[in-house]
Amino acid sequence: MTALLSAEAVVRRYGSLVAVDRVDLRIADGERHALIGPNGAGKTTLLDLIGGATRVDGGRIRFDGRDVTRLGPARRARIGIGRIHQRPAVWPSLTALENVVVAGWQQVGGFRGVRSRARFRSRLAEPAAALLEQVGLVDTASTTAAHLSHGQRRQLEIAMALAGRPRLLLLDEPAAGLSGVEVRRLAGLLAELPREVSVLLVEHRLDLVYALADTVTVLHDGRLVASGEPDEIRHAPEVRRAYAEAVR
Ligand SMILES: Nc1ncnc2c1ncn2[C@@H]1O[C@H](COP(=O)(O)OP(=O)(O)O)[C@@H](O)[C@H]1O
Ligand SMILES: [Mg+2]
Repeated sequence: MTALLSAEAVVRRYGSLVAVDRVDLRIADGERHALIGPNGAGKTTLLDLIGGATRVDGGRIRFDGRDVTRLGPARRARIGIGRIHQRPAVWPSLTALENVVVAGWQQVGGFRGVRSRARFRSRLAEPAAALLEQVGLVDTASTTAAHLSHGQRRQLEIAMALAGRPRLLLLDEPAAGLSGVEVRRLAGLLAELPREVSVLLVEHRLDLVYALADTVTVLHDGRLVASGEPDEIRHAPEVRRAYAEAVR
C-alpha cells in the first residue's frame, strides 16, 4: 500500500545537536501511528518537520504522492496536514463555536464561500456545531474560550483542526496536563475519529498510546530505535534501554 505520508531520512540540526537524525517514517491511510520516546528525543521536532513549521536539513517528506519538503506550514495545512500543539492554541476572546468557524473559514474558500447567510450557516456554522458535538463540547458552544478548562480547550483545538478537514492529524502530547477524567474523554474522542483521518500521536501516556495505536515508533536522541505493532514495542529491549537511559 502506498503511504499517505512518508518521511525519508529526515534530518534537523540545531548547531552541533542533531535533533532528528535520518528518521524514516511511513503512515498509511487511516493509520493511527504513535511516536514515543524520552524528553528531548526529537518528537516535537519531527512533528514540526512534517507540519512544515521547521525545514529539514536533509531528507525528503512526501504527502499524498507529492513532495512537500519545501512547502510552508500553511500550504501543507491546505493539502491536509492538521496540527495540535503541545499547548492549546485557541482564540481566547471568541466563543468555542466561533473558534471552530474561524478555523474552517479557509477550507470553504474564504469570504466567497459564505457570501449569503444561508451559505454561512450550511457551510460553516452547522459543520462547526457538529464538530463541537463530536468532541463533546456542544454545551459550551457559546462560552468564550478563555473560560474553558484546559481539557476543554484541548477538545476545542481538536475540533478546530478537524474543521480544516485534515487527512493527517498531528497531535503533540494532547493528554499533557489533563486530569484522569479528561484523559479518558480524550481517549474516547480520538478512538472515535473517522478513519478518513490518519493520526500521528506524540504521547507520554503509554496507556493511551497502546490503546489507540496501530503502529508505535520509538525515538531516542533523534534516532529511530524501533517501530512496530504495540505488542512488539512494549517488549522490545531497545525500547526499555532508551527509557532506562533517560531516567538515569
Ligand atoms: N529551536 C530549538 N533550538 C535549539 N535546540 C532545539 C530547538 N528545538 C528543539 N531543540 C533540541 O532538540 C532536541 C529535541 O527536542 P524536541 O523535539 O523538543 O524533543 P521531544 O519533543 O522529544 O521532547 C532537544 O535536545 C532540544 O533541546
Ligand atoms: Mg515535545
